[in-house]
Amino acid sequence: MASCDVSKLQAIRYERGSLQLLDQRLLPFQTVYLEVPDVKAAWTQIRDMVVRGAPAIGVTGALSMAVELTNHKGSGEAFKTVAQAVEFIETTLDFLVTSRPTAVNLADSCNKLKAVTEAAAGAEGATPYTVCAAVIAAAEATLAEDIAANRSMGAHGAAALLAAAKARGRGVNGRLRVLTHCNTGSLATAGYGTALGVIRALHEQGHLEHAFCTETRPYNQGARLTAFELQHDGLPSTLICDSAVAALMSHGQVDAVVVGADRVVANGDTANKIGTNALSIAAGHFGIPFFIAAPTTTLDPNLPSGDHIVIEQRSHEEVTHFRGERVAAHGIGVWNPSFDVAPGGLIEGIITEKGMIPKRDGVFLVRSFMAKLGL
Ligand code: MRU
Repeated sequence: MASCDVSKLQAIRYERGSLQLLDQRLLPFQTVYLEVPDVKAAWTQIRDMVVRGAPAIGVTGALSMAVELTNHKGSGEAFKTVAQAVEFIETTLDFLVTSRPTAVNLADSCNKLKAVTEAAAGAEGATPYTVCAAVIAAAEATLAEDIAANRSMGAHGAAALLAAAKARGRGVNGRLRVLTHCNTGSLATAGYGTALGVIRALHEQGHLEHAFCTETRPYNQGARLTAFELQHDGLPSTLICDSAVAALMSHGQVDAVVVGADRVVANGDTANKIGTNALSIAAGHFGIPFFIAAPTTTLDPNLPSGDHIVIEQRSHEEVTHFRGERVAAHGIGVWNPSFDVAPGGLIEGIITEKGMIPKRDGVFLVRSFMAKLGL
């Protein structure tokens, strides 16, 4: 098997008219980039996990729209009227959203591009070309916006984790032992990462004692991707089985937990990779602060609570097979939800690029936070 070039943690490569995705199914052993020629290909590659992680999915969706318009619609030349351009863009965005249901970032990206489309179409002197140009520019901006959000989240998150650990008398000489789940790093975003970005920021500040990552069954995003990123950056780190979390905590080895999110709803209930709920319960039991790190593109103020989140069910083979080989007894039934919901009540803080989401009487105020920011 070809060795992996560890200098490459770039999930998404883009320049005008060209989009490539690092095939994350082959990591950590092979570095292969796949072309994304159009929106249909992006839809399939998102569903098939070539690219995964809520922010990365959102950015990929937007950039695939840009590529579609640039390469297949002559940046607008293919449309006779503005109405035709709007109809095509909006229908295509509606299709894109159906690839994976739980992470809200893709819907957020598509809704924002729709708003850009409507605004450009309504502007004086609008042509199919000006509409497409506005959509392409907005899509391209998502890459840099996501990286900037992650850097900012890292700074806010590091401060929040340090303060919470200090308040509980946790830590080793001002340095933290932090546990994370799934993959929320460069590979799950446009770069740097959300929860893993917080861990990176702690390390950059000299405040990271140790990072623990769970293997994250059944798809092994932790063992394959997070462990790979931690090794790439040379962070002091250890991989544990998902089922070892409570044992590690009971041995006093965890000062704080930080995980990412696929959707944070109005009361702070948070959908994230399956196992996150168990982690939040274990952290609560041991009095360990449990944090979510999520960009504002992951907030969904329209759903009142986690009960309303659609949880993606994935194929049985992810559980019964390992690298194509069956490891489970024949005939057994399988339940494979890809995500679960950590209740807001067990979450110490939700870190965004705009700061921490406020709480009143233990309930997160996602709607008023967003309203204040004009989101
Ligand atoms: O199924 P995946 O790999 O897309 O799930 C990813 C997660 O659950 C991440 O924790 C979440 O998307 C946050 S990524 C910054």
